[in-house]
Amino acid sequence: MNTILDKLIARVGELPPIPMVTQKALDVIRDPDSSMGELANILSMDEAMTSLVLRWVNSAYYGLKYPVSTVQQAVTFLGQRTLHSLVLAASVASLLDRAAPGYALERGELWRHSIGVAAGARLIAAKFGQRTAEEAYHAGLLCDIGKLAFEVLLRDVDMNSEEWQYGDFKEMETIHFGVDHATLGAEMARRWRLPAILVDAIAHHHNPSEAAEAGILAAAVHVADAAVMSLGIGIGKDGLQYVVDEAACERVGWNESMFSDLSARIVPFVEEADKYIRARRK
Ligand SMILES: [Fe+2]
Repeated sequence: MNTILDKLIARVGELPPIPMVTQKALDVIRDPDSSMGELANILSMDEAMTSLVLRWVNSAYYGLKYPVSTVQQAVTFLGQRTLHSLVLAASVASLLDRAAPGYALERGELWRHSIGVAAGARLIAAKFGQRTAEEAYHAGLLCDIGKLAFEVLLRDVDMNSEEWQYGDFKEMETIHFGVDHATLGAEMARRWRLPAILVDAIAHHHNPSEAAEAGILAAAVHVADAAVMSLGIGIGKDGLQYVVDEAACERVGWNESMFSDLSARIVPFVEEADKYIRARRK
């Protein structure tokens, strides 16, 4: 399996590295002995990250009466978990914010879809505790990262052929490339040294019942993925064939009546995230 992944990654070019500031910040966040001061110091060293954190904490989303002007204040206000999510989102935004013609996704669509799935998965997983909810956010954000590699290969494929029009997209990826985008994305996450539970959730976001330790995370991401597709955010070619796993819905206590509440919270979040995270690179 690793030989196939290595060849695949080699064919599509270098695996995009996770930015150094993110790696350092994630190491500090994961270390139970670390302090908020250490995290603030690391973020302060990166100009782009500093401006992002300050823009986000001062955004309409929080409605603060007095503006926050230092990263230290922002770290205290936002708390470690929110910062963790923000740092990861900001780091992968540059990777996800590109066109993926192989999946019929214009620039920005994969990013908006991913941040929408992240927000949805966090809401769905909230009943399982804050830690699980944040992990669901991260898994949702990264679930389709493997598409970045595949989409280059898909450009050479005749998408109008019957097999791609009517076949299962994930199966077709496996038939043509040896692995599907979920497996490839999980390998990318593993090489970024992200926690094993996230790697497992990414690997199984289309078949959540087969996840080992990340069953709830994979189910939350899977249901959120379907919900964000229904909202028309970054559907792409494969989205039209999305099959929802009923067992996953049951596992996270999901029913159709929850859709309108979820969409009312996802849509403004995607807009804000787009404005404050993606906009910084324009
Ligand atoms: Fe996917």
